[in-house]
Amino acid sequence: MTAPQTPPLRRRIVLTAVRTVKRWAPATVRRRLWDSEYAAGRWDFLDTSQDDLPNTLITKFADGGRILDLGCGTTQNLHLEAGGYALYHGVDISPDAIARARALGRPDSAYDVADVVSYPITGRYDLILLREVIYYLPLRAAARLVRRCGDSLTDGGVVAVIIWNTEMYGRTAAAARRCGLPIVDEFVHAPGAVTLLFGPPATR
Ligand SMILES: C[S@@+](CC[C@H](N)C(=O)[O-])C[C@H]1O[C@@H](n2cnc3c(N)ncnc32)[C@H](O)[C@@H]1O
Repeated sequence: MTAPQTPPLRRRIVLTAVRTVKRWAPATVRRRLWDSEYAAGRWDFLDTSQDDLPNTLITKFADGGRILDLGCGTTQNLHLEAGGYALYHGVDISPDAIARARALGRPDSAYDVADVVSYPITGRYDLILLREVIYYLPLRAAARLVRRCGDSLTDGGVVAVIIWNTEMYGRTAAAARRCGLPIVDEFVHAPGAVTLLFGPPATR
């Protein structure tokens, strides 16, 4: 017997409700929700992603340098060459995702379980990755985070905001554009997606 199909409307309502919780619920609830999704394998498909963009950005901007990856997930989809970077620092709200990242035993790496909205960034980085994460934040918090990242860039460093679906998350992309940092480049690397590269603030 085949399982009954979930009616599209019902599914849409559920997805909207989950997205609302991910944006607006207290950090403890969001943490539990993300963690349960990782435990259930909801995000396993990211581990085998063939998307080369993050690795291309790392080679271009952080060759031998320092990388901060906010909302990093399990990080299995990053192919970092040992010795090719000075530090890889991953931060995610899900303890399960961070446990899996740590288990990779990557050299020269550090990990934190934290909410990126309130995470205090210390030190300077050549590349700060915000891969598929800021649209899970309220618009203002997303823009504030991107702007705050700018203060932790080295001269010549970039914050890379990657959004896979601009139709769905166009307002987040627009909010990021208005964050106050200069956009040094932007490109479409897949249909419907956008990558925005921000440089350090004009004055520090
Ligand atoms: C779609 S996944 C992307 C994972 C990874 N960046 C990638 O592209 O493979 C979104 C990630 O953002 C994390 N996340 C969502 N909201 C967060 C927050 N407020 N603080 C830290 N991490 C968060 C989730 O736990 C999840 O790992």
